Amino acid sequence: MPTQNLANKRIIVGISGGIAAYKAAELVRRLKQHEADVRVVMTAAAQQFITPLTLQALSGNPVHTALLNTEAEAAMGHIELARWADAMLIAPASANCIARVAQGQGDDLLTTLVLALKAPLALAPAMNQAMWLDEATHDNVQLLVRRGIALFGPAEGSQACGDTGPGRMLEADELAERLAGLFNTGSMAGLRVTITAGPTREAIDPVRFISNHSSGKMGYALAEAAVEAGALTTLISGPVALPPPPKVSMVQVRSALEMHDASIAAAARCDVFIATAAVADYRPKTVANQKIKKSGEAMVLELERNPDIITAVAKLKPAPYCVGFAAETEKVVEHARSKLQQKGLNLIFANDVANAGIGFNSEENQVTLISAEETLTLEQAPKQKLARVLINEIAKRLCH
Ligand code: C5P
Repeated sequence: MPTQNLANKRIIVGISGGIAAYKAAELVRRLKQHEADVRVVMTAAAQQFITPLTLQALSGNPVHTALLNTEAEAAMGHIELARWADAMLIAPASANCIARVAQGQGDDLLTTLVLALKAPLALAPAMNQAMWLDEATHDNVQLLVRRGIALFGPAEGSQACGDTGPGRMLEADELAERLAGLFNTGSMAGLRVTITAGPTREAIDPVRFISNHSSGKMGYALAEAAVEAGALTTLISGPVALPPPPKVSMVQVRSALEMHDASIAAAARCDVFIATAAVADYRPKTVANQKIKKSGEAMVLELERNPDIITAVAKLKPAPYCVGFAAETEKVVEHARSKLQQKGLNLIFANDVANAGIGFNSEENQVTLISAEETLTLEQAPKQKLARVLINEIAKRLCH
């Protein structure tokens, strides 16, 4: 369990002013349950929403509220507090708080701590959806991400102000899990990765379906490599004969439509989306309720298009970093590059399936990495070894 990572860790929870401040109480409780040592810092506005006394009782430590207070500084001053911390999480981080951190202000205890902090910092934004979508907030968030500050959320959904959209603070359990992820080592420490794998089955009637020979091996190997690299990994899998990899949250699906819905739900709150699934391009237009009886006549099945899952994910706002696969039999790089563009992907791995011994349903694979700027052919390797290489190649590009 990633949450074991929190035992004995020294965590500063920073609370800024927003209605989600009440959820910080639950967060502090969770962190304590995971045996973290928690100290809470509140802005003046945060204290309008929730009292320091509540947080003091839950954290078991005095709450820090003032920068220029001799008594507080004598107990544990801001520099000492910054040195004490193994990580700091600001939850909720209001639009104003995000702006002040982005500008490097130091006009209260919370922002001063951020400036003095050497340990990892994470922000859990919480605000009205229009404020989250505002260009100024967007620019501030980009700046923070470029500085290596982790962003936890926000989630989409109904808001305290009556709106619906992105801007809800993540729940305490998820924040604790993501915070624990910061203490993982590896090239994807603390990131959320969603991977699709395997074939889909498109029902004709209760006993028959259309499908393909995808084994799911590449997707499962990537999920294992992502876990090894420290990612919190979700694997959305069609029916395959492989056991679920350890430490992965599995979502089992059958049809392309089920895979689509599960992917959109997971992708809305992940950092990287990797599509290895061999999604059926078509499904029968109608599914018979009863087993279709054979007759002397030829049978005609009318098919309709399935949605392109990764294209839909790449259109989300904000979209995760999207990685696709392209199995081609000719003009491999050219066709893969046009898929990269058409689907709006950040990266695509192309392989030549006309070449026996690699790709579909085989043990080994060889791929060419293609992005807007580069074309890089990677060495042929068993799928498990190649998966580690691919995860590292993805991780390297995320930082830029
Ligand atoms: O267009 P093509 O099927 O060759 O594209 C392959 C890539 O697109 C793979 O990453 C595959 O998982 C993804 N894909 C998808 N949804 C579909 C079809 C393909 O996500 N309906």
